Amino acid sequence: MKISPLKLLSFLTLVYLAFTQCGQNEVQSNKSSTILEMKRATDHHSYSRPEESVVKHLNWNASVDFSTRVISATATYDIESSDNAERIILDCVDLNILEVFVDGEAVNWELGPVAPFIGQPLSIPIKASSKQISVSYESSPEAGALLWVEGENPFLFTQSQAILARTWVPCQDSPGVRFTYEAHLDVPVGTMALMSAVNPTEQTSDGHYDFVMDQPIPSYLLALAVGNVEFRPIGEHTGVYAVPELIEAAEYEFSEMEDLLVAAEGLYGKYAWERYDLLVLPAAFPFGGMENPRLTFATPTIIAGDRSLVSLVAHELAHSWSGNLVTNATWDDFWLNEGFTVYFEQRIMEAVYGKEISEMLATLSYQGLVDEVDQIMDVNPDDTHLKLHLQNRDPDDGMTAIAYDKGYFFLRLLEETVGRDAFDAFLKAYFETHSFSVMDTDQFIAYLKENLLTNESLLNQVNMDAWIFGAGLPPNCPTVGSQRIERVDSVLSAWQAGTMPTESLPWNDWVYQERYRFLSNLNDDTSADRMKELDENWKISQTGNNEVLFAWLEQSIRSHYEPAYSRLEQFLVSIGRRKFLTPLYKAMKETNQSDMAMNIYTQARPSYHSVATGTMDELLGWEN
Ligand code: BES
Ligand code: ZN
Repeated sequence: MKISPLKLLSFLTLVYLAFTQCGQNEVQSNKSSTILEMKRATDHHSYSRPEESVVKHLNWNASVDFSTRVISATATYDIESSDNAERIILDCVDLNILEVFVDGEAVNWELGPVAPFIGQPLSIPIKASSKQISVSYESSPEAGALLWVEGENPFLFTQSQAILARTWVPCQDSPGVRFTYEAHLDVPVGTMALMSAVNPTEQTSDGHYDFVMDQPIPSYLLALAVGNVEFRPIGEHTGVYAVPELIEAAEYEFSEMEDLLVAAEGLYGKYAWERYDLLVLPAAFPFGGMENPRLTFATPTIIAGDRSLVSLVAHELAHSWSGNLVTNATWDDFWLNEGFTVYFEQRIMEAVYGKEISEMLATLSYQGLVDEVDQIMDVNPDDTHLKLHLQNRDPDDGMTAIAYDKGYFFLRLLEETVGRDAFDAFLKAYFETHSFSVMDTDQFIAYLKENLLTNESLLNQVNMDAWIFGAGLPPNCPTVGSQRIERVDSVLSAWQAGTMPTESLPWNDWVYQERYRFLSNLNDDTSADRMKELDENWKISQTGNNEVLFAWLEQSIRSHYEPAYSRLEQFLVSIGRRKFLTPLYKAMKETNQSDMAMNIYTQARPSYHSVATGTMDELLGWEN
């Protein structure tokens, strides 16, 4: 069969259009395919074309309505454009665009076709000389970033990373675009509004709040929370916000925040964001923490009563350098944010709590990494590369132990190869030289070659390519060892073999990392009787440490230990942190207890954030 070049061309065009999901919608099919094509080279999760016209400053005027779950806003942007600019493009998802002005004049804007995950381009005609655009719009009650809690204690929070900022503000939603912002908000009287900006410490009587963030940030760090919270100072530059019922517990739990900040500055240079405060969110928050500038958002599940889970604060604080100052250029470069942050977190933990604690944490993360690498290798080995391949996928898929822990071990290898002093000097200079700018993997490699791995022998020792572009864990992965963890492992073997009675376990001498290691390594066929003994002796199901409780509940599912099931249900209905939900629902599914999983999920789902339901719907085959 002979195919004419013309037919071949139109066939290829069709395949291309089907693939990019554009052209099927009535508006501007040819334009938006050009947009998609152009973005492919840079950030494939944004339609924006900052090289044509870019947002420099956002002035956001908004009012927050709990009864309709709608934010109504006018966003005014100062822009800068190239000489031949014809339009500016903003990303949006599910936004109801009402009116658009350019330098005060109404214009004909266009919304392009909807593509999965990335939403729609909002295209606004401008001239090269245009200075300001303004968009009036409403968010959807289903906006992916937002979680609304209604009732007597209303609460609203956002989670913008990775590409959900566009569900509540039309923006150039690419980590490579930075802008300053101000905001003027009306929220219900009796609540305080907080943002990733200079924040109030008292509620206003009229529900009006003004914000300024005069340091440029990428859109994924735009954040808003509204609720009846109070503020307590911790140190000179640190403090906590929480609802009245939790404020005292939070003040106690996070009383070491200033020490962490001082330690971090001692390692890699001055803190750039003036204040470091932390907001305790409702338990539906889908993450442990989110590094919103000046105000980390955190899950209440790290309030253990004994300050044992502060490594999470060290992590979010570390992002104030790795991520917030030096930002991954695209989500394929996510390891530059998270791998560096885990490394920095570990160094803060070592500086403040000593090597014994930080090595225990490293040992646990090594175990988690090895398990996860095994799992991912079975599905898609390419997903174990540090440099990810997220085109046409949800960037959320990149949130695995690879970016975090493979990234950490790569940096640890660099440290071990050149020595700590040289590596610290390198990192400090890296943050200084690149602050308030973006970094992609190739740029980092070039910087590394120029400033650290400056000869063949060092390059060979490290074998960067294997780490960054290769699958699995390279053989030169640093080894970690913790005597305390080794002791737990031998106690566990003795207990499983029946040579150590349950009442002789050194449970009360163990810190949470040791308890977690013990529980998460129990055999799946541990009998109900033995689970019962553990709980009777050590009151595990009553622990205030949610990491330990989580490990206990997961093991209970795997051992079919039914007395723990009511605690399990209570946990899943009240907590929305995805890191806990996924393994628990997965364990039910894998042990033929899917009915229980579905029953609990049906109850719990309405209170989860979209980030969590996205994952759980897929895991459990939930159909809307
Ligand atoms: N920035 C991340 C959270 C994130 C990543 C949200 C990607 C959305 C997309 C945050 O710093 C983080 O890593 N949180 C961890 C805690 C940490 C101690 C590993 C979490 O929430 O589990
Ligand atoms: Zn992080």
